[in-house]
Amino acid sequence: MTQPSSTATAAALDEGNGSMTLSAPASGGSWDMQIFPGTEGPSVIDVRRLYADTGLFTYDPGFTSTASCESKITFIDGDEGVLLHRGYPIEQLAEQSDFMEVCYLLLHGELPSPKQKQEFEHAITYHTMLHEQMLNFYRGFRRDSHPMAIMCGVVGALSAFYHDSTDINDPYQRMVAQHRLIAKMPTIAAMAFKYSIGQPFVYPRNKLSYAENFLHMTFSVPAEDYQPNPVLSRAMDRILILHADHEQNASTSTVRIAGSSGANPFACIAAGIASLWGPAHGGANEAVLMMLEEIGHKDRITEFIARAKDKNDPFRLMGFGHRVYKNYDPRATVMRKSCHEVLDELGSRDEPLLALAMELERIALEDEYFVEKKLYPNVDFYSGIILRAMGFPTSMFTVLFAMARTVGWVAQWTEMIEDPNQKISRPRQLYTGPVRREYLPIDQRS
Ligand code: ACO
Repeated sequence: MTQPSSTATAAALDEGNGSMTLSAPASGGSWDMQIFPGTEGPSVIDVRRLYADTGLFTYDPGFTSTASCESKITFIDGDEGVLLHRGYPIEQLAEQSDFMEVCYLLLHGELPSPKQKQEFEHAITYHTMLHEQMLNFYRGFRRDSHPMAIMCGVVGALSAFYHDSTDINDPYQRMVAQHRLIAKMPTIAAMAFKYSIGQPFVYPRNKLSYAENFLHMTFSVPAEDYQPNPVLSRAMDRILILHADHEQNASTSTVRIAGSSGANPFACIAAGIASLWGPAHGGANEAVLMMLEEIGHKDRITEFIARAKDKNDPFRLMGFGHRVYKNYDPRATVMRKSCHEVLDELGSRDEPLLALAMELERIALEDEYFVEKKLYPNVDFYSGIILRAMGFPTSMFTVLFAMARTVGWVAQWTEMIEDPNQKISRPRQLYTGPVRREYLPIDQRS
């Protein structure tokens, strides 16, 4: 990167007055900027007029200090390890609520009354089937396709089938699209799994809960009766709650950016799924299991910890660290407890990978490098172990994450569309490439 050419100093930060003055000694200029407070968390400096007033852009690759939007949905205090949805702590929602209620809360801002909950559940339940022609899409994929590849494709293709819910300017169509996406995602995910193992697709059952229905479509076969295990259904529901939203993460920001151009909601969610797939984001739970398998034995933990600390080695401790949490991820605490419950229920309390994970966590949390950099287990550290115990292959882990996060994406997309200040997202850049030069015909180049 180029060296700074001059420095601008914040001469006066007056939070009481809600303003900040920026001075640039080189030009002798001075500009006032407003500060907007949030209900929780840091205030923001309004830089919207910065370029018009000063000719300067801000520079913040990875958005480490940039609020890209105003939102009322989710709040995270990464230093304290706090996660609130519409003000409610994630621990309370995971313990006392259920996924359908959390969906309603994220979408509508308040917990539902009994009648509202019943109506919402009904609306979701009666959108779970896929258009029958969509099944042809699955058959076009290679048998060994990653289910995330299938999910990206099939979700994007929803816009080709549900034309009556793609008009983003119609509130009714937006609502139908919300319901369809939340309702069809488990069906799409389960079918991706069935296709990959060569079993027949299983259609949804309306009498089952959201989590039970997903387990039914994933694990039942037409030849047998299937009764969802209540402990596993509850654990599944909790996993969905824990992944439902996480404010402006990479995939959610992707959904917002895609949607800011006016793209239809199905296309936007497909973009979010693509972003989630990466190992630094939703792909981490799959990466955690692969890492634990690679470590293989407690005796090798120190070797891998040393690799994670070695700047010349690209290896990172998967499931550790987070852009926002500099404390224990509160979702990881719930997930850890759930992991024990599931393994107890399945009689696999002695699952060697769990023992290995707990030992790895213990050693890392005592290691100076991880302590100093505030690297704690994140939600993905334990989720993979539960999912594997429940019978999911690792390739399905991120698919489950996408299924759960769909409500968050949809809620954030809706909030953006309904925001009167909404503009197409169009970041600026610091250009450091060649300055203008004249084209040289190929026969004149050496
Ligand atoms: N193992 C070893 N070192 C790490 C790890 C890790 N898991 N995570 C961060 N660090 C180190 C970095 O090397 C860096 O060190 P440096 O300051 O000496 O250069 C420092 O900690 C800060 O890390 P950044 O990469 O700058 O932090 P950032 O906020 O950009 O990254 C991320 C966060 C991507 C989650 C990172 O911690 C990581 O790669 N973790 C492993 C993957 C993972 O678990 N992802 C799941 C995230 S949760 C989710 O998406 C649901």
